[in-house]
Amino acid sequence: MWLEEINREIASCVRCPLCQSRTRVVPGEGPEDAMILLLGEAPGREEDETGRPFVGRSGRLLDECLVAAGIKRSDVFITNVVKCRPPDNRRPKRGEMESCRSYLRAQLELIDPRTVCLMGNVAARAVLNREGINALRGRVFEGRFIVTFHPAAIVRNRNRKDDLISDLKKARIVAEGQEGSGSEKLSQL
Ligand code: URA
Repeated sequence: MWLEEINREIASCVRCPLCQSRTRVVPGEGPEDAMILLLGEAPGREEDETGRPFVGRSGRLLDECLVAAGIKRSDVFITNVVKCRPPDNRRPKRGEMESCRSYLRAQLELIDPRTVCLMGNVAARAVLNREGINALRGRVFEGRFIVTFHPAAIVRNRNRKDDLISDLKKARIVAEGQEGSGSEKLSQL
């Protein structure tokens, strides 16, 4: 399956009630051969209006952190666990995450990134089935999954910005294969 096909399926998706309130779907964007995939939670208002991930306040903060980590935004694939905006930016419901799961799986299979950066608890839960961001962040699992803070959390608490930057740097280093990542097995968690 190609990215275009996945995007087409997402665009016509009616699997969950979020299809009724969305303005646009936000499938994600970036190169099909990206070495790093960044995974957020769900689109917010500006993302819903534009159809692009992380273009609002969190997106601007993410952009700053990517620059500081030496990563070009145009080199990474950015997407969310849920591809449509939950009303009032509430956390996505379990059923909504399940409805969207096959799209994320298809994106991960196609792009096959070296590193997947799980930004926040919703992303960590969706992929690793784990939560507890303070304990998980900065750690690498199964050689390629790196957990970090969601940029919206940094907008609320700027003290952790350096941590997000250092996790993104780590994602780059793991993707470049420069260094042993100290990867842990999920079964050891
Ligand atoms: N927050 C997310 O999780 N994703 C976006 O695309 C924007 C804000």
